Amino acid sequence: MSARAQIGVTGLAVMGRNLARNFARHGYTVAVHNRSYAKTASLIADHGSDGDFIPSESMADFVASLAQPRKVVIMVKAGAPTDAVIAELVPLLDEGDIVIDAGNAHFPDTIRREAALKEVGLHFVGTGVSGGEEGALNGPSIMPGGSAESYQWLGPILEDISAKVDGVPCCTYVGPNGAGHFVKMVHNGIEYADMQLIAEAYDLLKQGLGATAPEIGEIFAEWNKGDLESFLIEITADVLQHTDAETGKPFVDIILDRAEQKGTGRWTVQNALDLGVPITGIAEATFARALSGSVPQRTAAAGVLVGDAGAWEVTDREAFIEDVRLALYASKVVAYSQGFDQIAAASEEFGWNIDRGAMARIWRGGCIIRARFLNRITEAYERDENLALLLADPYFTEKVGEGVSAWRRIVSLAALNGVPTPAFASSLSYYDGVRAERLPANLIQAQRDFFGAHTYQRVDKPGVFHTEWSLDRSETQES
Ligand code: 6PG
Repeated sequence: MSARAQIGVTGLAVMGRNLARNFARHGYTVAVHNRSYAKTASLIADHGSDGDFIPSESMADFVASLAQPRKVVIMVKAGAPTDAVIAELVPLLDEGDIVIDAGNAHFPDTIRREAALKEVGLHFVGTGVSGGEEGALNGPSIMPGGSAESYQWLGPILEDISAKVDGVPCCTYVGPNGAGHFVKMVHNGIEYADMQLIAEAYDLLKQGLGATAPEIGEIFAEWNKGDLESFLIEITADVLQHTDAETGKPFVDIILDRAEQKGTGRWTVQNALDLGVPITGIAEATFARALSGSVPQRTAAAGVLVGDAGAWEVTDREAFIEDVRLALYASKVVAYSQGFDQIAAASEEFGWNIDRGAMARIWRGGCIIRARFLNRITEAYERDENLALLLADPYFTEKVGEGVSAWRRIVSLAALNGVPTPAFASSLSYYDGVRAERLPANLIQAQRDFFGAHTYQRVDKPGVFHTEWSLDRSETQES
């Protein structure tokens, strides 16, 4: 067998298959392999005309069909299946070859695998790939980590098959070892927040206006023409206007209200707790999914917990819709601002040197959170690459500022009328918290010193102090 494939894909479920087809359509010779050959055969039978594929039944033949340095994309389930494929692959490779994990791996696993493969002279690239099946085939957003050297080999190919916005590829080198998968994880966390915010907006419009799903779909379609233009708003409009064939009812009305997850949102929140970064929007979105699935608790509460809620009296329909739109926009900026803070903190912690502006740029197309306003985020980090808070960028200060009173009206109305808006409300609280001149954390410090001698700092002089609470209440300076 001649070793002529420029790239290989092992794992030919729908994402792997579509990525392989995307490479082939861009003129690359693609080695393809799957644990069971049936999937490989069906790829060739159904889509062989997409380009030049070299199918192999065994991993050894697959590896032998690749030109060196070999570039092997693994597209299997995260976790143990990925480790199993790596274990099978590694003994067949040679120094300088590049193993690419394009699944949704947890970034600590990527750090571990990268270190292990480096030991045997291989490059390991953990890469985020977003955009679902459609994106994998027609142009995803790609977030590769790993060594800078591996990117020299791999980057041009990945950039080639990625989505393009204004001719710019939605793919760039993210940073060493786990950086690519970390950024993809935060992308998914933001995706959770974005989806929850949209769901809350839908609920508010439904309850506030008594609007039907198709009517709300029209509102979302209208919003998609402005600042909120994004893939998720677009598909929301579409979904809301879809009719269930069996019942003739709006499709969303026949879907059970329990949101599931595969875990990337949970990882994002767990990591934010480790880093001490408040990502309240993402956390509330993740918990909202958990609450929706808390069946015993919901059953116990239904019809039992006192609501004492008011009744909606929306007199100006258009003004209410505009208020919800502004509240959605502002909350969305908070979610992104928090997500970018998390990226900055991790970049610092792990020495990744991640360029946040570049991340916003590669999220403009191909991925699930692609949105018009990512152009504005890119510009914000171009204005100041060390921006401490995205919300404080002049563009966003003004845009969010214009909607603050609407945001307050919506969150208060929701509370008064008993409609849960965890993401809207916590985003507004974060906004007020981060802009507060003085937070009540002074009292917490005093309490901690009282019961645990945990010490405090003073506003009027430097140093660390403790008060002898149980003695004479004199103050001592600890350092
Ligand atoms: C993407 C998506 C993709 C997947 C999510 C779904 O960027 O293409 O994020 O990775 O659809 O992981 O996540 P949940 O099942 O956790 O909602």
